[in-house]
Amino acid sequence: MKKGLRKGVGKFAQFCLLAVLITVPLAVSCSSKKPETKVFNIKFSHVTAVDTPKGKAAEFFKQELERISGGRVKVSVYPNSQLYKDNDAVSALLMNSVQIICPSTAKLTTIVPEFQVVDLPYLFPSGDDMHAAFDGRLGSMLSDLLEKKGYKLLSFWDGGYKQLGNNSRPIRKPSDAKGLKFRIMSSKVLEAQFLHINANPQIMPFSEVYTALEQGVIDGQENTWFNIYTQKFNEVQKYITETDHGYLGYVLLTSRKFWDSLPPDLQKSVADAVKEATDYERKIALEIDLRDKKRILNAGKTEITTLSPEEKKIWIETFRSMYSRYPQWNNLIKAATAHQNPS
Ligand code: LMR
Repeated sequence: MKKGLRKGVGKFAQFCLLAVLITVPLAVSCSSKKPETKVFNIKFSHVTAVDTPKGKAAEFFKQELERISGGRVKVSVYPNSQLYKDNDAVSALLMNSVQIICPSTAKLTTIVPEFQVVDLPYLFPSGDDMHAAFDGRLGSMLSDLLEKKGYKLLSFWDGGYKQLGNNSRPIRKPSDAKGLKFRIMSSKVLEAQFLHINANPQIMPFSEVYTALEQGVIDGQENTWFNIYTQKFNEVQKYITETDHGYLGYVLLTSRKFWDSLPPDLQKSVADAVKEATDYERKIALEIDLRDKKRILNAGKTEITTLSPEEKKIWIETFRSMYSRYPQWNNLIKAATAHQNPS
């Protein structure tokens, strides 16, 4: 090879080497700045129908989170006990078989017994009192207790006030419930509530209540208007008394383990979607409950007993006398009722 040519080839080789030396690290540093592509899958399990406050808010949360995260989180919602029944979901969450659940407070009482305080009849006279308690000191006390058990509280969602249904007779006063068998969620306070009026409580998963009423295994149940209507309990329930005797509240939950597995920016996306969904859920809960009360009235299969203020007072006083049995919860009761106007 001619000397000039050799020199040219040498220069070219030097140039190529330099180009490689510059572009390889550049490519490496560019690829390390590429946006995260890992997709996180969330299974969200709950037990109510889609057309309930919880069912609608779960769908809303899915849409919001998938949008906010730019598709980096995918949410699959399983309503109607499709994936897990009642308390099963609470243990499945810790095993990461499901990533978000939204049980009623009663279903957490086996994990954190202090949740039973929420089941005390007539604890919250209004929705505002209840929000103040959950968004305040009571909420943070319960949240700390859940954290110690490996859970992470995301939010409190609204259910509504429970009504008392049965198949034997119209109930006007607490003593009318004597001897009747009522399905309850697994909570010692709910058990005590029915024993207090000489009725028989029976723990049973939500998904089994319709058949149990139909077959006469139980005489009655307590639930919100929207649960009674969407589960068709009114079709197998002759009488409902509008007692508003207890509040059904929900706890939106994940596990610490799943939460910690999310990168910080996705934790923020989840928190933002939770906030949006909570505002939405709390806005529609009462509307849906009243809508379904009307639907039950219009269906005309159930006799609805409305209580006069004097009759309601008897229920309140009867159940208030239970509170003194729980001196160990004085602190929690105080935190729950601190915002209420003395009546
Ligand atoms: C029930 O089991 O009666 C309710 O907790 C169902 C629900 O989640 O509203």
